[in-house]
Amino acid sequence: MDNKSILAFSGSNSARSINQELLIYAAGLIKTCRVQLISLRDYSAPLYNMDIEISEGFPEKMKELNALFNKQDAFLLALPEHNGSVTPVFKNTIDWLSRIEMPIFRNKPLCLLSASPGLRGGAHNREHVTGLMLFWGGKVVSACSIGKFPEKWDGKQHRPADAETQAMLRNTIRIFEKEICQ
Ligand SMILES: Cc1cc2nc3c(=O)[nH]c(=O)nc-3n(C[C@H](O)[C@H](O)[C@H](O)COP(=O)(O)O)c2cc1C
Repeated sequence: MDNKSILAFSGSNSARSINQELLIYAAGLIKTCRVQLISLRDYSAPLYNMDIEISEGFPEKMKELNALFNKQDAFLLALPEHNGSVTPVFKNTIDWLSRIEMPIFRNKPLCLLSASPGLRGGAHNREHVTGLMLFWGGKVVSACSIGKFPEKWDGKQHRPADAETQAMLRNTIRIFEKEICQ
């Protein structure tokens, strides 16, 4: 195993997140690098407000997360889509992190996944985030979205329900791994 390290998290704070479920499976496909899986549920912070930043400084959990970002060689993200855009918890995390240290994703390679019950699987937001990586300092090297997630996912076995979805995910992770862990 390579000694490179990947930080994996989803953009959801739901205890029943389908993106966290997808993330856990995708992280398990990575064999040549170390993957540290976290949940943003464990990194809560108040809604960004400059008054809070001035009076209280940065939230401890955001400082902790920023320090974790410094140790990574790459990032694996699974992003839910809310009204065509990012979730509040993900944007809030990005906003706090951007105040602590830039570039947020340290110009490292990223794999972007997304899942939703809708047809496009959150691809609109994934594409939107890919463009925003110009500001956020991340290099998207592979990506895919799983639409109609309840149909495409075997919730009991915690894996794709069909060979096509499985192959798409494996291929996305293979490209990502090749980029960073060779
Ligand atoms: C406020 C809100 C807005 C949503 N907007 C979209 C959307 O634009 N596109 C989409 O595919 N799904 C949308 N959904 C459905 C989410 O894809 C679904 O709730 C999904 O489970 C969220 O991911 P998570 O379970 O990982 O949190 C929305 C859900 C909520 C609560």
